[in-house]
Amino acid sequence: MSVCLRDAAQLLRPPEDGLPYLRHDRAAELSLEPGSLCVRDGRIAALEDDAQAELAIDASGGALLPGLVDCHTHLPFAGWRAEEYEQKVTGVPYEEIALRGGGIASSARAFADASDGELLEQAGSLALEMLAHGTTTFECKSGYGLSAEEELRALRLAEELGERVVQRTASTALLAHAVPEGFTADGWMDEVERLVPEVSAQALDVYVESVAFSVAHLERMGELAARHGLALRAHVEQFSTSRSVRPALEHGARSLDHLACLHADDLDPLARSECAAVLLPGAELLGAEQVAPARALADAGAICALASDLNPGTSPVLSLPLVAGIAVRRYGWSVREALLALTLNPAWVVARSAELGSIEPGKRADLVLLDCPAEHVPYRFGRNPVAMVLMEGRVVYVRPGQEWRIGRG
Ligand code: NIG
Ligand code: FE
Repeated sequence: MSVCLRDAAQLLRPPEDGLPYLRHDRAAELSLEPGSLCVRDGRIAALEDDAQAELAIDASGGALLPGLVDCHTHLPFAGWRAEEYEQKVTGVPYEEIALRGGGIASSARAFADASDGELLEQAGSLALEMLAHGTTTFECKSGYGLSAEEELRALRLAEELGERVVQRTASTALLAHAVPEGFTADGWMDEVERLVPEVSAQALDVYVESVAFSVAHLERMGELAARHGLALRAHVEQFSTSRSVRPALEHGARSLDHLACLHADDLDPLARSECAAVLLPGAELLGAEQVAPARALADAGAICALASDLNPGTSPVLSLPLVAGIAVRRYGWSVREALLALTLNPAWVVARSAELGSIEPGKRADLVLLDCPAEHVPYRFGRNPVAMVLMEGRVVYVRPGQEWRIGRG
């Protein structure tokens, strides 16, 4: 099957082909020039029109982007915690919310009570909404299991979800998210050590925070990741500064996520490394967290990514265009910086950037067509600009009213 996407007002291109990531101090080198592209057998074949194509898509007036990659979500999870959000914004302290039965533990209870079918149903319908917002690849995490059995169930469901949804998925085992009842943090890490050989995932993750796990536990997770050939990722410096960055880098972390309370002395080492800084502006905004030093990270040449952190507690947000809007406003980022952080760099985080994350010949033709120039994404804040989504050149989503774009070649 050959497809031609014709006459886009803008086509997002990296400065060179074959880059595994692009450091953020080079984001201005991304180009957004008018263009066309053609797809053959699911891959981008050339950056030119193809008069012979079997299917033609009129991209006029719009920006053509690589499919968006959401490298940090907590799917699958059960239900929501809307009442907790209302308590939070009206001033109830976090400890009290937890005492009232809220927090991660309440999502864990809901997870254990939900059937496989219910969990897949909820995650599947969220994935459909994500598709309509341009997400073509997303990460799933366990972490609401809080027992060996339920953590393995979460990872099995993440795999099943990957088979059911249109998007590509990657699985992360967040085996140290909260200390399960009846365990000490050290005791639970012994359990994690037994569990790791059984998990089916590409990465291990740990939540470092005073109420969760320590830097020593992060180091132990790093050793486990190395021993089992998995990537190391970690939730760090979200509500307080734990100085997790150097130990995580020593253990070869692929990404460090949150970073709202990043220590100034840790910024340069992180920025110089190949470890991505995954920033979660939705969680920062809704949780009234500190704002991550994203402008400084970008200027220092970090590999920055943005993600939704989609979860029922801190970030019930799935729209990456919205995340881009928050980032541009609050981080003082350019549009190109936001787009880089939603495409090539998060593809690097999930180890798929050789195949995904940029428009270049040979890569898989996962594409998003906006109905407007890219500059409108953050500016028309909260609006969904996605007109059409393609996976390997196959049209998988068309916004009602945008059907006119599809025609014979
Ligand atoms: O990424 N920080 C820890 N984990 C999640 C929130 C989990 C929850 O509150 O349910 C996060 O923000
Ligand atoms: Fe998270």
